Amino acid sequence: MKKLYIKTFGCQMNENDSEKVYLLLKDEYELTENPLEADLILINTCSVREKPEHKLYSEIGRFKELKKKKPKLIIGAMGCVAQQEGEKLLERFPYLDLVLGTQGFYRIREALEEIAKKGKPAVYTELKEDFKIPLILSNEKSSKRHRVKAYINIMQGCDNFCTYCIVPYVRGREISRPPEEILKEAEELVKKEGVKEITLLGQNVNSYGKKEKDYPDFADLLERLSQIDGLLRIRFTTSHPKDLSEKLMKVIAENPKVCKHIHLPLQAGSNRILKKMNRKYTREEYLEKVERLRELCPEIAITSDIIVGFPGETEEDFLETIDMLERVRFHEVFSFKYSDRPYAVARNFENKVPEEIKEERLKKVHEVQARITKEIYNSYVNKEVEVLVEGISEKDPTKLTGRTTTNVVVNFKSPRLDLEGALVKVVITEAGKHSLKGEYKETLVL
Ligand code: SAH
Ligand code: SF4
Ligand code: F3S
Repeated sequence: MKKLYIKTFGCQMNENDSEKVYLLLKDEYELTENPLEADLILINTCSVREKPEHKLYSEIGRFKELKKKKPKLIIGAMGCVAQQEGEKLLERFPYLDLVLGTQGFYRIREALEEIAKKGKPAVYTELKEDFKIPLILSNEKSSKRHRVKAYINIMQGCDNFCTYCIVPYVRGREISRPPEEILKEAEELVKKEGVKEITLLGQNVNSYGKKEKDYPDFADLLERLSQIDGLLRIRFTTSHPKDLSEKLMKVIAENPKVCKHIHLPLQAGSNRILKKMNRKYTREEYLEKVERLRELCPEIAITSDIIVGFPGETEEDFLETIDMLERVRFHEVFSFKYSDRPYAVARNFENKVPEEIKEERLKKVHEVQARITKEIYNSYVNKEVEVLVEGISEKDPTKLTGRTTTNVVVNFKSPRLDLEGALVKVVITEAGKHSLKGEYKETLVL
């Protein structure tokens, strides 16, 4: 067996793509954690902000010497930066053998054959409007693996064109996968690999099936998946606030397998900025949806993404973002400094915010949110929660770790440590900054 080393940057979509690449290659390659012993090195890249893009460049740079010593080594870049830069990457890194875009990576075997035959780099960066994600199921070999959690990609691309964002350009148009394939993939994961929790992935899962004739909508897809025996939990990400329907809210509230958590990126609190971002909702509409969601499902945890320093964002606009944090009280917030991206139209907007101000605003978001998260986490203390056990805690091997339905990490003491994949009841004893501590109470599903 040859050895494959994959380094993945970026979102869960990318993690899932790396997994698929492994499945495509597993007859010939086994995974290694050590790039020095690899025959094939793949770097799966993200270009959503400038920082992750640069990680690719330093990562490829790292392997230059290795390639000199091992000329047969194949080095490839895949994912969003590969899509964005295409052949240009070969100019910058002449020792690169493979450039596989966000659709091209499914053809990795063909690309490897091409390299072997022609002895020169292969570049697959076509982005088709009618691309069909191939169905790649794990077979015998991977079925020996046991996993508690897995991802399923239910759609690709994005049609929203938020003005700051590169994703629609590097991931192409929004296309949903056929429901039968999604169900088949889910059933296999549950049956063959013992998966208990599935996270459905898409840039905007709420618009699943909208463009395709005869497809169920996202709420119906959730209902269908929840009928799979042995599957205990379903999560999904990301939801766009404009497409969050009453029907979906009801399914979240009423279906016991659907986790009580929604990632609902707000991005900014000022209507003026939201408009310039092309987000297609106002702060009032966002608040209304949150209120309705909580009316239907009081225990729901809402998390969010925030961008600070979008072009033209004044102090007043920014304070409206802070005001939204206080009003909504998210469980957790991922916040980013705005950065110019290729293709994204906001790069041509005027009144760019200076770096120091972005830095200050980011700090302020962190401060305010840290307090709110702490208050929310404290409110779990002395309560009983259901935790899906993911395994032994990495930090403390005498404890188990898992998550609540609201997606909060819980590390807890337990008389038994062999509970991976079980759903257990835990009493929360202490709240930390990023997780909760607790004690095992009873097993609900083994
Ligand atoms: N499709 C998802 C998110 C995709 S990108 C959604 O719509 O929510 C993940 C996050 O990165 C975004 O929510 C946004 O907060 C952030 N982001 C995207 N482009 C950015 C940019 N140019 N600068 C800073 N943050 C950005
Ligand atoms: Fe980017 Fe907006 Fe699409 Fe999300 S919805 S991927 S932020 S364009
Ligand atoms: Fe990054 Fe591409 Fe995901 S840009 S966030 S890896 S869709």
